[in-house]
Amino acid sequence: MSKALDGVRILDFTHVQSGPTCTQLLAWFGADVIKVERAGAGDITREQLRDIPDVDSLYFTMLNHNKRSVTIDTKNPEGKQVLEALIQKCDVLVENFAPGALDRMGFTWERIQELNPRMIVASVKGFGPGPYEDCKVYENVAQCAGGAASTTGFDDGPPVVTGAQIGDSGTGLHLALGIVTALYQRTQTGRGQKVLAAMQDGVLNLCRVKLRDQQRLERTGTMKEYPQYPNGSFGEAVPRAGNASGGGQPGWILKCKGWETDPNAYIYFITQAPVWAKICKVIGKEEWATDPNYATPAARLPHLKDIFAEIERWTMTKTKFEAMQILNKYDIPCGPILSMKEIAEEPSLRKTGTIVEVDHPTRGKYLTVGNPIKLSDSPTEVTRSPLLGEHTDEVMTELGYSPEQISALRTAGAI
Ligand code: COA
Repeated sequence: MSKALDGVRILDFTHVQSGPTCTQLLAWFGADVIKVERAGAGDITREQLRDIPDVDSLYFTMLNHNKRSVTIDTKNPEGKQVLEALIQKCDVLVENFAPGALDRMGFTWERIQELNPRMIVASVKGFGPGPYEDCKVYENVAQCAGGAASTTGFDDGPPVVTGAQIGDSGTGLHLALGIVTALYQRTQTGRGQKVLAAMQDGVLNLCRVKLRDQQRLERTGTMKEYPQYPNGSFGEAVPRAGNASGGGQPGWILKCKGWETDPNAYIYFITQAPVWAKICKVIGKEEWATDPNYATPAARLPHLKDIFAEIERWTMTKTKFEAMQILNKYDIPCGPILSMKEIAEEPSLRKTGTIVEVDHPTRGKYLTVGNPIKLSDSPTEVTRSPLLGEHTDEVMTELGYSPEQISALRTAGAI
């Protein structure tokens, strides 16, 4: 069966997480992704957080499926020539080096255009043009600079970063969209272009609702859905809202049966207005459905803490799954707090290919997150990540190098 990006060749100059997330997605959609790595060492994540000695780490294997690996010393003059041949053969160059690294290697935008005017050059950087453009950036720096940390956590505690890799994987997703969009435009113009996804911008895009709230706060001095509302303690900037739900339907995380020993025995519970009467019935407070202090969303706002305490008295008598089953019968929106262990063992996620078991020649079997985006006409088959330089000879041959030339380049340390 054909794939959406069949025929698209990607020169994958990415490392660590943000860039590899992007090129892995493109590979899952059918692109031929050729990962160029430093000879002898490779992507630094191959050896980071290792759980088995001398075996590519899960960090690496889980971000580099369906790719080919070639090793080239791009600072060696002959290595540079190999890279030039690759630039001429590929449609997209994706990189997430520190600012200026590609230029220092001699591959400026102008040089790349000379070699291949159809080439799309896609970059992840920490920041866009401005005071921080030269900075090196990792995940949590982007979360802090993009507005996520200042708006995450509890009011009486410090800013908090989230486990979701919104700076790295989030920006990789943004970049992938930029690349396929540029590929589409190229079908009209015949020209390549530069695509930039800055991590600060990507995080801010995901924090869009908090910039909305900043302006609401400045206009009205308050925000009724925030836990700070009943005591009116707002400052100048959007505060941390704990577990309050972002929209107009108040929600909170509540304890379930077993919470004393299980750190994830909790449920997210939303007091959606249309099902208020049903909530009252389930928790045994039927009088609240008609009591003027509780009957309307506006009347409930000042009492949310007490309301959630009452609901929690009920949820604590059920496991999160029992509560889920009961609440769903009444269309009351809720969600169990699932641990990574529970997610890894969830059969329905295996069935859809969202969690996949992959076999690796030196690691053996391991679990990974498959393609979260499902196309009906372009199915994804997750194949293992490449060993370092596994495809150097294969790709060199495709580029037209003879076995003798390949051997000479290897002796010269260029590949
Ligand atoms: N052959 C020879 N040299 C190579 C090479 C190859 N195949 N591949 C890379 N290099 C060199 C580069 O030319 C560069 O050298 P230079 O500093 O002399 O110009 C160096 O290796 C790459 O370095 P850099 O990107 O600076 O790596 P780092 O480990 O110091 O920094 C980051 C890592 C992630 C902080 C940095 O790359 C960065 O800020 N990237 C952009 C933001 C980003 O993606 N961050 C998220 C990462 S998940």
